Amino acid sequence: MARLALYPGSFDPFTLGHLDIAQRALRLFDAVEIIVAANPEKKASMPADVRAALIQEATADIQKLSVRTFEGLVAAYAEARGATALIRGVRSACDITYEAKMAIANSRLCAELETIFLLTAPAYAHTSSSLVRDIARWGGDLTPFVPPAVAAALRRPYA
Ligand code: COA
Repeated sequence: MARLALYPGSFDPFTLGHLDIAQRALRLFDAVEIIVAANPEKKASMPADVRAALIQEATADIQKLSVRTFEGLVAAYAEARGATALIRGVRSACDITYEAKMAIANSRLCAELETIFLLTAPAYAHTSSSLVRDIARWGGDLTPFVPPAVAAALRRPYA
């Protein structure tokens, strides 16, 4: 049976760090589905379908990788979808406290669901979506941080 992993996040926006995690997850699973979900702690700067469309554009040449938006509990969706695991990238020890809480909650919601943490590549360890939004706001060079499709879209609202 094909082993599917879900990679949920708010991806506001999707960065090169996220891309690296998705590509590495594909080495471990038969297919990976990126889930653009809602984090109640964050007010999104772009609608979920726009964030998903940008990810689609940025990953169009990657096989076995799909993208969708989802509203609701990721664990319930994973169970319904028959996914084996959730993928999350961790950048530093600081991320672990937050990630552990989510992983434990998700495993209590769906006992079969494992969360796999992949260590973010050193080049992206200090990247975050909020940092990218700030650089975009002031017209800075986004090429070291996000795929070209995302950089082009971010230049538009602040132009
Ligand atoms: N490279 C670069 N940045 C990375 C990264 C990497 N490899 N991994 C994480 N980050 C950064 C992101 O850029 C982002 O930065 P920001 O805080 O400045 O925005 C931050 O780490 C985490 O964002 P992201 O990975 O997009 O996810 P999130 O933590 O916002 O996602 C959800 C949380 C959406 C997965 C979670 O709220 C969820 O599952 N919601 C659905 C409802 C649900 O099931 N709730 C129960 C959860 S137990």
